[in-house]
Amino acid sequence: MTDVRAEALERLAALGVSRHEARWLVEEFLVGSDLDAWSALEVAATRRLSGEPLQYIMGHWPFRTLDLDVDSRVLIPRPETEELVDIALAQLAHGDARNPLILDLGCGSGAIGLSLARELGERGIAARVIAVDESIEALDVARRNARRHGLSTVSFLHSSWYDDVDISLEGRVDLIVSNPPYVSSEDLAGAQPELAHEPLGALVAPPRDGVEAFDDLASIIDGAPRWLRSGGSLVLEHGARQSSDVTRRLFDVGFVEVKDDVDLGGLPRVAHGRWP
Ligand SMILES: C[S@@+](CC[C@H](N)C(=O)[O-])C[C@H]1O[C@@H](n2cnc3c(N)ncnc32)[C@H](O)[C@@H]1O
Repeated sequence: MTDVRAEALERLAALGVSRHEARWLVEEFLVGSDLDAWSALEVAATRRLSGEPLQYIMGHWPFRTLDLDVDSRVLIPRPETEELVDIALAQLAHGDARNPLILDLGCGSGAIGLSLARELGERGIAARVIAVDESIEALDVARRNARRHGLSTVSFLHSSWYDDVDISLEGRVDLIVSNPPYVSSEDLAGAQPELAHEPLGALVAPPRDGVEAFDDLASIIDGAPRWLRSGGSLVLEHGARQSSDVTRRLFDVGFVEVKDDVDLGGLPRVAHGRWP
């Protein structure tokens, strides 16, 4: 490490930025060592110390093989969602579709759908991905990310869950993936302050059927059978406390091979089932 970088890290640490985050900021903003770079770094440190997430300050963040633009219009893609993509890829491999049709419900930055398009493409599989969000602002970010990475087989749809999905796709979808809002307002109030910078509509869901923050998960599960082809899969991220409610609902609407996979922390977080 150069003396200038070492000095910058010391300055940020002295201000109270953690070493780990200081490294990211120095890499991002200390391009050269002129005054402009130092002042950009100082502004970034001030934003971080005021509670803004590192990822929004940098304006981009890695997700699997992609570097994604992120800002306060979209949820910051999380590591557990990277695991969801592995599970979705395994479900597709099992289903053996050559040109799979995929719905990414609540696409945010595009993390899931764009990763699937990219990684399937690398395996010679031309997936058609429809990335859906009810937030026009999120769709703008996702579209920009698709353009940045040349992922032209991904299209974008402004819709509340399945409401505006074209009727011609009924019974034809190979995979529905979603990381929907699944946090209760009570849990959000007690969560890390950084979450307050992320869009509320990306995080918080109302209760349903006596289960906290279950409304969006339930809507997605209940709606899926109409769109999936026989043998198609639904893969859903959810909160650790919602595991039994999600898997029960999947069984209740008729899914088979229902399973809930644990994340790196050992908690059940990604449920999936196959439509018979
Ligand atoms: C938890 S974020 C997930 C974003 C992204 N898929 C990811 O994993 O990083 C949930 C997303 O669902 C979207 N959303 C919330 N309610 C929705 C609805 N009724 N219909 C479609 N999208 C919705 C939000 O705008 C947000 O982008």
